Amino acid sequence: MKQAVAITGAGQGIGRSTALHLARDGWTVAISDINTSAVDTVAAEINEAGGHAISRSLDVSDAEATRLWVEEMDDLVGGLGGAVANAGVMRVKPFLELTPKIWRDVMAVNLDGTFHFVHPVSQRMATRGYGSIVILASASSRMPSFATSVYNTSKTALHGLTRVMALELGPIGVRVNAVSPGVVDTPMWELIDRERAALLGKDPGEVMAEAVDRIPLGRVETPEDVAGFVAYLLSDAANYMTGQNISYDGGFVMP
Ligand SMILES: NC(=O)c1ccc[n+]([C@@H]2O[C@H](COP(=O)([O-])OP(=O)(O)OC[C@H]3O[C@@H](n4cnc5c(N)ncnc54)[C@H](O)[C@@H]3O)[C@@H](O)[C@H]2O)c1
Repeated sequence: MKQAVAITGAGQGIGRSTALHLARDGWTVAISDINTSAVDTVAAEINEAGGHAISRSLDVSDAEATRLWVEEMDDLVGGLGGAVANAGVMRVKPFLELTPKIWRDVMAVNLDGTFHFVHPVSQRMATRGYGSIVILASASSRMPSFATSVYNTSKTALHGLTRVMALELGPIGVRVNAVSPGVVDTPMWELIDRERAALLGKDPGEVMAEAVDRIPLGRVETPEDVAGFVAYLLSDAANYMTGQNISYDGGFVMP
């Protein structure tokens, strides 16, 4: 049944495309981002096209604000049927130069922020006995990559969270899956390309082009590619899938 979905970090990139895709599919979308004007613009785009979006400013590293947002949205839409934990940040820093502050800043959003969101969502879904939660992990949850150790660690940890949530919530009708995209053409990969290139003495665009060369399907992933797969995981077509971390990456990482 399509109803309402909450999405974090929906102001740009994968979160934005997922919001637009789900709204086109008929979902009411409750969207948030730390970048208020960006998420308000996405909501306006959806509402002008005849969809139904509600936007709010939210920093997912703030546990209390995130819980209040979830509860407000759940009440407003008459119960969230879906949730997409998408907000994430990237820092490119060689391991020997990493600082506790960088470590904490990334973990605060990618790991803590995901927990802050999916925990109240799960509590609300549990009272109704249904729901589907999708967590944005990454190819980096499965393979090492240069100068992104804290990011990779946060995404690997999300795989652990996904499995235990699926185990505990499955019996009460809530499915939980992670999706691991590969090289997606968003501002996050622009940052990776720029900063790795600077560290390695390469030209702008070179790092991304080399990564795309390793993808069997031969092209960069689009945010819309990911959005379509997230929509599938939320839908009843995936009603027997839970506890998985699914690579959706053009073959970038193979088991
Ligand atoms: N781009 C890729 O290649 C790729 C690959 C695998 C996984 N992912 C994951 O997909 C998700 C989206 O990535 P993207 O490429 O669209 O990133 P992006 O940087 O383009 O967009 C991330 C969004 O999250 C928001 N955000 C950042 N910190 C926040 C916070 N504290 N609270 C709320 N919102 C916050 C940003 O404002 C932005 O709108 C992330 O979790 C990322 O790790 C991306």
